Amino acid sequence: MNKKELLFYDAYEAFYAMAGQSKAFGDFCRDAFGADFSQDGFSDIRQIEMILPYIPRTGDVHILDIGCGNGKMLGYLQAKTAACIHGFDYSEEAIRTAQALFPENADFREGVIGGVDYPDESFDVITSMDTLYFAEDMAAFVAQIKRWLKPGGVFFVGYQEGDVLPKTENADTTRLARALAENNLAYEAKDITAESYALLKAKRCAALAHQQAFEAEGRRDWFDMLLGQTDYANEPYEQFRTRMARYIYVIRK
Ligand SMILES: C[S@@+](CC[C@H](N)C(=O)[O-])C[C@H]1O[C@@H](n2cnc3c(N)ncnc32)[C@H](O)[C@@H]1O
Repeated sequence: MNKKELLFYDAYEAFYAMAGQSKAFGDFCRDAFGADFSQDGFSDIRQIEMILPYIPRTGDVHILDIGCGNGKMLGYLQAKTAACIHGFDYSEEAIRTAQALFPENADFREGVIGGVDYPDESFDVITSMDTLYFAEDMAAFVAQIKRWLKPGGVFFVGYQEGDVLPKTENADTTRLARALAENNLAYEAKDITAESYALLKAKRCAALAHQQAFEAEGRRDWFDMLLGQTDYANEPYEQFRTRMARYIYVIRK
């Protein structure tokens, strides 16, 4: 598989190169999401803090983030829990940054979904925020994740419909829910579509607040991209929720 031909590969290389250098983008993330994890999506600090109770505080604890980007979200979880952090992402740029930022008690790998493997029962918690959509065969990937989890481990997923994948009826009809059912995995799903709508509005405000800073850095194109991503926030919520949905899934092995 030539990863450079995969969906959005070049766009993510450019995104993480920008994220590594732009003060305006870091400030935008702090204002929009409550923390700068170089987010490309909807992972605000409240969603990331929902992961903390599932991370054991004693023993040899390992957590994996699928689509970890430059590792800042994992770095935050490590600072709170002292867990050993593992992450993979297809972006070379992002993984290079993650390895430089978090050299201790960490393993960051450049790799493609379906092309990376870990020993069975390696992880206490596996997270994936806004990345599972890129699995060509979601049921097969979920089977692999199930194998990687320790017995009793938790798989925590932030999952949006209406962007990469079309909106379905509810949390039980998504491609992920079907993949979980195929793998006999029980889950709890929380519908956070209303929070996601509020976050879009916050992203729009934050982008506008930092417009001049992006322009001063010569990054007007990134400001335009961030603002364009929030166009949905201009429609009423009732309309928004017919086309978009966001769920947090907590899946136990
Ligand atoms: C929508 S972003 C989410 C990033 C981060 N988890 C967050 O919440 O901000 C998707 C991430 O998945 C990575 N990615 C996309 N397709 C991939 C693939 N086929 N294999 C591995 N990583 C992939 C991208 O580089 C990017 O970091």
